[in-house]
Amino acid sequence: MKITLVHGDLTEQHADALVNAANSSLLGGGGVDGAIHRKGGPEILAECRRLRASHYGRGLATGHAVATTAGRLHARWVIHTVGPVHSTEEDRSPLLASCYRESLRVADELGARTVAFPAISTGVYRWPMDDAARIAVEAVRSTQTAVEEVRFVLFDERAYAAFAEWVGNL
Ligand code: APR
Repeated sequence: MKITLVHGDLTEQHADALVNAANSSLLGGGGVDGAIHRKGGPEILAECRRLRASHYGRGLATGHAVATTAGRLHARWVIHTVGPVHSTEEDRSPLLASCYRESLRVADELGARTVAFPAISTGVYRWPMDDAARIAVEAVRSTQTAVEEVRFVLFDERAYAAFAEWVGNL
């Protein structure tokens, strides 16, 4: 699997699957979540609501992932995953790694070959960028998957530099 880095907007990417940094409600929010629903259109939220009414009555657990249509985005699916909120009291890094692993597992179930990720948990959930980049790259590198390209789509220079360092290091 190839890892690529892009400095840009996840919602402008062309890929089989775009990964959303969602929250457990699956009912939208700000950041990446807001952008995906805004640009993807109401079909995404409609499918999220159906998921909540069926298998995800209590919401999507942190570290888990589930796919919906990508609506009007340039992708076939959106894979929603819930990152952990950063904590200084407990080490939640396994949960952050799980977001990447579970998203790749769902991508394999779908037959997606190109998957674009944002820097999960590094916005509202306040995870330090450098540590999040290390966890993301290590998790992707250590996951068996049929996905051919994992593309990290970084919204700003700071994020891009952090991911570039770890892609180079690991
Ligand atoms: N494309 C790529 N990256 C983006 C975009 C975008 N359009 N918008 C924001 N980002 C970046 C942010 O700069 C940050 O580095 O994505 C990273 C993740 O930030 P958030 O979207 O805030 O996600 P997260 O930290 O995981 O918090 C999730 O925020 O939006 C709510 O509903 C969401 O409650 C959930 C929480």
